[in-house]
Amino acid sequence: MPGSLLRVGVIGYPIDHSLSPKLFNYWLKKYSLNGSYEAYAVKTNEIKTFLSKMTDLGLIGFNVTVPHKQEIINYVDHLSESARRIGAVNTVSIKNGLFFGDNTDGFGFIENLKQNSNFHNFINGDCIVLGAGGAARAIVNALVEVKAKNIKIINRTQEKAEILANNFGDTVNVLNWKKRHESLKNASLVVNTTILGMRGNDQLDLNLNVLPKKALINDIVYVPIETKLLKDARVRGNPTVDGIGMLLHQARPAFLKWFGKDPLVTDKLRNYMLDSKKNWN
Ligand code: ATR
Repeated sequence: MPGSLLRVGVIGYPIDHSLSPKLFNYWLKKYSLNGSYEAYAVKTNEIKTFLSKMTDLGLIGFNVTVPHKQEIINYVDHLSESARRIGAVNTVSIKNGLFFGDNTDGFGFIENLKQNSNFHNFINGDCIVLGAGGAARAIVNALVEVKAKNIKIINRTQEKAEILANNFGDTVNVLNWKKRHESLKNASLVVNTTILGMRGNDQLDLNLNVLPKKALINDIVYVPIETKLLKDARVRGNPTVDGIGMLLHQARPAFLKWFGKDPLVTDKLRNYMLDSKKNWN
């Protein structure tokens, strides 16, 4: 393989669950690149020490996962515009000893929908975002960037939704969690960013009766790959997009930056990643 070894990785705690090493190593092999991607279990109180060793370790960048996506902001030298607006970093690139933080979750969200739907048909009506956590922040920001006309955030804790909405202009509004069922009446897109429906958690209780049949439903949960929400939507004839693609696409900008190649998200890759978790359905 040409060139010297380029080392990157992911930090988080716990880190065993991370699918990123499998994903990056698949692409490194596919494109015959001389790189390595390792998972580093780093506790919150160890971040500073770990970062001071980065250059010694020879890393040119790293991904950041739970629970450090916000904390890491305190340690980067430069924040991208989207990372600043989202208030979280998932990718750090190191250049001349300086740390550049970016957030690619919104990119992953949009690219997943673009690859699996006629995306632009779905941002003209109400775009309903369920949840107001970190993922919702990235998704609302991305929807604003693609000029979605009417974004409505619905969260169990309404105050969190209001804080999120306040970062944006009047295309972003908040609706009450108790009114989530009837809020679907003019929806063109519904995105679940809560943990509801994820294995081990309660189901999302959402009655789809008034949802237009053309509306697209996207769940960012991907364990199981078809959540109850996606199944309910599919059964009544709505188009659906599952969550694994967001995970795959959000990794592309980091791979491009570090290895100079924008990697493809293919069905083969998708199946390979899903294979790593038996009994996902
Ligand atoms: P992430 O950063 O991955 O988005 P998070 O910040 O922990 O995760 O956010 C989890 C989301 O799931 C929140 O919107 C949370 O709602 P609250 O803000 O009210 O906590 C939502 N959520 C979690 N459990 C829930 C439940 N039982 N019912 C409704 N919403 C729930």
